[in-house]
Amino acid sequence: LNNSRRLRFAILGSGRGSNAVALADACLAGEIAGTIVTVLSDVPAAGILERARERGIHADAFDPGPFRTKLADASEALVIRRLREARADYVLLAGFMRILRGEFLRAFSQRILNIHPSLLPSFPGLNAWQQALDHGVKITGCTVHVVNECIDGGPILGQAAVPVLDGDTAATLHSRIQKAEHGLYPSVVGALARGDISIEGRRARGFRAVPSIDFGP
Ligand code: GRF
Repeated sequence: LNNSRRLRFAILGSGRGSNAVALADACLAGEIAGTIVTVLSDVPAAGILERARERGIHADAFDPGPFRTKLADASEALVIRRLREARADYVLLAGFMRILRGEFLRAFSQRILNIHPSLLPSFPGLNAWQQALDHGVKITGCTVHVVNECIDGGPILGQAAVPVLDGDTAATLHSRIQKAEHGLYPSVVGALARGDISIEGRRARGFRAVPSIDFGP
């Protein structure tokens, strides 16, 4: 993960796109030495496509095929082709709700990042904020990690902590975690683009987590 030139990033997402916006804005502001070259979604109506187009970023939906949690082989091949055509160096998952399999992982080995709404390895999988509430933890947060074949289990690049407050509901906790995501994801990608992050085995070095906990709503 050592880079000296301006990187080309592709984003895959299925939802609102608030992380994609944070990443795109950080590129425009020069905080990330890179460009978002394309945004692709398995959900044609997803806000992420609209948010990208508003910013003049190429954005397109693709047909994921008949499965609910993964992509059909042909869809995976199509996305790989599009990402290659866009000459993407890295693929940033931002609320992408499907599992990527072998061929995709091999095509962009060590070059796919994800943001997960918990302090991994706690609460992998869906609705991590609800898992945190159910478990009764007092601190949760978000994690940027490399995507490999272990779901939510690849090397951790950066984390930010978020408090769980007494009156929290799933919605209030999720929105506090999302605020932290919007700071964390661009700063980790910024460090990556500067060539500051190196990985040895599971251990990534170069990104210093800022232990600032915002107790606001
Ligand atoms: C984020 O909370 C992220 O952690 C999770 O999906 C959500 C995406 O939100 N993987 P958005 O589409 O970036 O607003």
